[in-house]
Amino acid sequence: MSTEVTNPPSALPPFDTGQHLLSVSQLDRAALTRLFAVAESLRPVGEGRMVCRILEGAVLGSLFFEPSTRTRLSFESAFRRLGGSVVSTTGFTFSSMAKGESIHDTARVVSGYSDAMVVRHPDTGSVAQFAQASVVPVINAGDGSGEHPSQSLLDLFTMREELSSRDKSIDGATIAVLGDLRYGRTVHSLLQILGLYDNVSFRVFGPPALALPSGFFDLVASTGNRIVECDSVDEAIAPADVIYCTRVQKERLSEEDEQAVHLHGDLLNTAILQEHASPDAIVMHPLPRDSRHNSFDLSPDVDGFPGLAIFRQTDNGLLVRMAIFSIALGVADRVADELRPA
Ligand code: CP
Repeated sequence: MSTEVTNPPSALPPFDTGQHLLSVSQLDRAALTRLFAVAESLRPVGEGRMVCRILEGAVLGSLFFEPSTRTRLSFESAFRRLGGSVVSTTGFTFSSMAKGESIHDTARVVSGYSDAMVVRHPDTGSVAQFAQASVVPVINAGDGSGEHPSQSLLDLFTMREELSSRDKSIDGATIAVLGDLRYGRTVHSLLQILGLYDNVSFRVFGPPALALPSGFFDLVASTGNRIVECDSVDEAIAPADVIYCTRVQKERLSEEDEQAVHLHGDLLNTAILQEHASPDAIVMHPLPRDSRHNSFDLSPDVDGFPGLAIFRQTDNGLLVRMAIFSIALGVADRVADELRPA
């Protein structure tokens, strides 16, 4: 099993106008505060009450080489809601990569047709290769088991909002992280970016074959936060303010993993929540959740649980992705002036 942090913080420039967004390591607390303020100011646009055409005439290149519903559609919707248009390709079959074209050539070509690119690709580090060849900002929409920075930003935005409604904050929160901690890139980005907050306690539980790589324990410890590996879901969630679940990333399991992973039943369901969690707990999941029988995921029977925030997460994804484009393309300071009634 890998003990590496799959996409360690590196010397990438801070995320700002004209920059790529490849890793959460490009953000600090001030950058988060600004991005969340821009996202909040765009809420009336996301809800269709106002319009804001600050990206009129701009074109987004949307390249998804792995399946996606919410990331692709929310990025594309975000760009269109700000007045821009989208050119896209999905899967390897329908791009000239099927004829052997390289990441370099693909990135350079598409960046010549667009003002920003959003890229998802199955290989860790591949989106950084796209960025190297691109002449416009590239947003990492998921690179293998590496990172998914926009997901972490919408997760943080949601966590902040949900905790605030309970007179709590991320600083000082106890966060249980459950499921596939080995391949779940949303978990990897989240553990990393929560290092910007103080006095956070993580309680992690994953099946042994899908346990968190040891490098992440060191990463969390280096930020001054605490992390405890739990032996069960019950133990992990008991004191949690936030319970963050992930699905098993079956598409990333090797044959050896598949032999080692024998999962059945639910990762979390109403009976477990009622018996072991605080009634005030916030339940999150990046989605999709695997609704097939015995998928070892968040059961649909939790949909009546008051703290279930999964669809507020997906709605917030639109706001956060509009804010990412506004900052990357240098129009964030004009958002408030450009809002018009719908
Ligand atoms: N959370 C997430 O990345 O969902 P999709 O795979 O549907 O984009």
